[in-house]
Amino acid sequence: AKITFITRNGEKITVEGNDGSLMELAKQNNIKGIDGDCGGVCSCATCHVHVDPAYFEKTGTASEIENDMLELDDNVGEYSRLSCQIPVSDALDGLVLQVAN
Ligand code: FES
Repeated sequence: AKITFITRNGEKITVEGNDGSLMELAKQNNIKGIDGDCGGVCSCATCHVHVDPAYFEKTGTASEIENDMLELDDNVGEYSRLSCQIPVSDALDGLVLQVAN
């Protein structure tokens, strides 16, 4: 699937991936602002992204644990997700994510 990350300084980077999580994909491609400090276990929020509203249905909403984590982040919004909690799949082709950090 082709995934586009938009960094805080407005840079648009489109990458391709087939497995792992969106956080791992971002790390593999050195996307600025996705640190994934906890290694993908939903306990750091350094992988916070805002999903483009048009794609929110495809990524689905955050789980309860994920929401608890997101609430600690100042920059949380209606379309916030932790990218380590979203598996890369063909269904996400074309997805656009705004990096939150
Ligand atoms: Fe830590 Fe996603 S990598 S919450």
